[in-house]
Amino acid sequence: MRESKNPDLYKNSCGECHHDKDNKPLTQLKEGDEVQNCIECHKKPGYIKGKKAKGLSKEKKREYHANAIHDNCKACHKKFNKKMKLKSKDEGAAPVTCKQCHPKKK
Ligand code: HEC
Ligand code: HEC
Ligand code: HEC
Ligand code: HEC
Repeated sequence: MRESKNPDLYKNSCGECHHDKDNKPLTQLKEGDEVQNCIECHKKPGYIKGKKAKGLSKEKKREYHANAIHDNCKACHKKFNKKMKLKSKDEGAAPVTCKQCHPKKK
């Protein structure tokens, strides 16, 4: 990721996205360190949504790799857009809709 215009959103540095098995942010990571991929813990491949996901807790959904990634990206983007009062991409808002991150296909 490139530098943000709003650095305090990244105050945990790499730990904004990388954490340990207890969900504690890995704030001390450096370039070149061994890092576990998300999928090693959020083990189920793909994305669960809609009917299939009905009734599942957030944690259960996050067992799916893409749900964990989505939760991570979108949580921060929503926070950023809200804080900066940004609505559209033209204003520099971070992407939150499917299409913005997955152009063309849904
Ligand atoms: C905005 C979220 C985010 C931030 C911030 C971030 N990463 Fe990552 N990183 C990821 C994701 C997502 C993956 C997994 C990509 C995949 O599954 O293909 C990853 C993968 C990695 C990998 C590869 C692991 C492997 O075995 O392939 C390393 C190494 C890594 N990150 C190091 C860092 C370091 C060091 C920092 C801080 C300087 C950092 N990351 C900051 C999201 C992030
Ligand atoms: C060593 C195991 C492990 C790895 C690797 C891991 N996670 Fe997690 N993650 C967890 C655990 C445990 C939780 C807590 C249970 C939950 O909320 O789903 C969690 C929680 C989360 C949450 C919810 C955070 C919150 O506090 O609300 C998100 C989002 C997330 N992980 C995304 C990621 C992403 C993206 C990656 C890769 C960059 C990643 N995880 C790598 C174990 C891991
Ligand atoms: C800790 C906060 C944070 C996390 C986590 C995060 N982002 Fe962002 N992202 C931002 C901010 C802030 C922006 C708005 C542009 C800027 O100022 O950097 C942005 C912008 C973007 C953009 C638009 C960039 C452009 O050039 O217009 C993309 C694409 C993006 N993020 C993808 C992701 C993906 C994919 C993930 C999850 C792996 C992710 N981001 C996780 C903070 C975050
Ligand atoms: C902030 C950017 C972002 C947004 C918003 C977003 N996604 Fe994703 N999505 C990703 C990333 C990053 C991945 C993981 C990388 C990958 O697997 O290609 C992913 C993975 C997926 C996958 C799994 C692909 C696979 O091969 O396992 C599906 C399906 C998906 N997204 C659908 C959606 C839908 C539907 C929405 C809207 C509800 C959405 N995404 C919103 C960034 C985003």
